[in-house]
Amino acid sequence: MARKVIALVAISVGLFLIFQAAPSVEGVAGEQDKAKSEKQMKKGAEMGSKIFMQYCASCHGVDAKGGGPVAASLKKPPSDLTMVEKVDGKFPTLRIQRVIGGEDVVEPHGTREMPVWGSFFRRKGGEGFAKMDITNLTTYIESIQQ
Ligand code: HEC
Repeated sequence: MARKVIALVAISVGLFLIFQAAPSVEGVAGEQDKAKSEKQMKKGAEMGSKIFMQYCASCHGVDAKGGGPVAASLKKPPSDLTMVEKVDGKFPTLRIQRVIGGEDVVEPHGTREMPVWGSFFRRKGGEGFAKMDITNLTTYIESIQQ
């Protein structure tokens, strides 16, 4: 009898511990995921920043505020890319990717002064690289929002 009681107590303590532990295991995994995605974001932003300085700063400026050396010769001023989130209310990841890639025209009519980068990056490194470049550029732009 005493053994049975001890066994039952042991089982319930064991179950109790498992249930206690479960959420914290999830919590740790969640933290790790977060740390991992923060690290990936940082890496993406770093890589995006390099591409940005090379291909985008001429118009958008090294600070991305729209005052690059080529800006003066354009009909339309390049967007201040640090204000996208303020203007849209929420950072529009998909829209930005599409604008850079060229799937979205920036304005409904007329000529688009913003170059189409999707085909350029594809020519440079293939479809996979084009996607990665555009993702990294978008991550970079997201990282500089004010
Ligand atoms: C030849 C000049 C030029 C270059 C180079 C350029 N852009 Fe632009 N970009 C513009 C102009 C002008 C606009 C304003 C929209 C328009 O064309 O009406 C714009 C708009 C944008 C927008 C839209 C912002 C919004 O909120 O709607 C994004 C995003 C953007 N550029 C990203 C980039 C990235 C990333 C690069 C480099 C890969 C780049 N641009 C290179 C001229 C340029």
